[in-house]
Amino acid sequence: MKVAVVGATGMVGQVMLKILEERNFPVTELIPVASEKSVGKTIHYKGMEYPVVTMQAAIEMNPHIALFSAGGTTSLEYAPQFAAVGTTVIDNSSAWRMVADKKLVVPEINAHLLTKEDRIIANPNCSTIQLVMVLHPLNLKYDLKRVVVSTYQSVTGTGKNAVDQLNAEIGGDDSVAKVYPYQIFKNALPQCDVFADDDYTKEEIKLMTEPKKIMDDDTFNLTATAVRVPVQGGHSESVNIEFENDFNLDEVRKILSETPGVVVMDDVKNKIYPMPLYSEGKDEVFVGRIRRDTSQPKTLNMWIVADNLRKGAATNAVQIAEYLVENKLV
Ligand code: A2P
Repeated sequence: MKVAVVGATGMVGQVMLKILEERNFPVTELIPVASEKSVGKTIHYKGMEYPVVTMQAAIEMNPHIALFSAGGTTSLEYAPQFAAVGTTVIDNSSAWRMVADKKLVVPEINAHLLTKEDRIIANPNCSTIQLVMVLHPLNLKYDLKRVVVSTYQSVTGTGKNAVDQLNAEIGGDDSVAKVYPYQIFKNALPQCDVFADDDYTKEEIKLMTEPKKIMDDDTFNLTATAVRVPVQGGHSESVNIEFENDFNLDEVRKILSETPGVVVMDDVKNKIYPMPLYSEGKDEVFVGRIRRDTSQPKTLNMWIVADNLRKGAATNAVQIAEYLVENKLV
């Protein structure tokens, strides 16, 4: 496979390269792509150095697969150009996610929908992926009625400049350009991305719309508050779920522990629960603090954590690529 990684110098792009290497993806030729300013740099992959190239040069090299993580505007402009030369694009931006004829894929849930004709495939939002990994098996069993989610999101989800802002603030350096509207160190910002309809942020709107498309179910309600916190290892989510049918907590834990890609960490007597420090560098979605919401029937609370750069972005994209290869769709 000739594989282009678009945004290879960025936060997610770097993790994509690491995961392609770790999982021994059948790369025969690697094409790292970044903006003009990065041409001249090289990317280290499996003991070899690869020169960073521009979009145009990469398109001319006709890759089989292009993993994109270079922002929505870039994706809107270039993903169709790659698709036009026969490349299958797996795009980590929000550009194509809610477009009706584009598939939004979490392999454990809906990869079976993919066909050879899908030339631009959307990778969901990081907070969405870890949420649906847990919601989907429970929806199949108990039927979701309403979900209320509050996120505690890592700065790595914003990109390199955000990590630089946090580290500079920790070090007392105030000269670095601010990505967030306020200081993030010692703070919590109830704003991820910009404000849009009805005073929700774009991140919250993604969380409220993408799960329904992935799970192919619009019969439940979902509301979200997304918060940026001075954390680097992963995103955390406090989730309250009301079901149509009642559940048994032991059965909930059993269903989740049998779900591929999900790990139950739920032993409060021994202070065992998921945390971003623990999830960093791992591919699974961790769930704990599973308990009944005593304020109303058929409702539970839980805490979901995952490394947003891995399962929330790069791992999910590489898993899609693996599915395409295994099923001869590229
Ligand atoms: P560059 O490093 O040359 O700016 P992050 O989300 O961590 O900020 O990373 C964004 C990634 O997207 C980087 O690899 C960046 O490259 C890349 N990128 C941004 N704009 C473009 C563009 N117009 N063409 C190609 N790559 C781009």
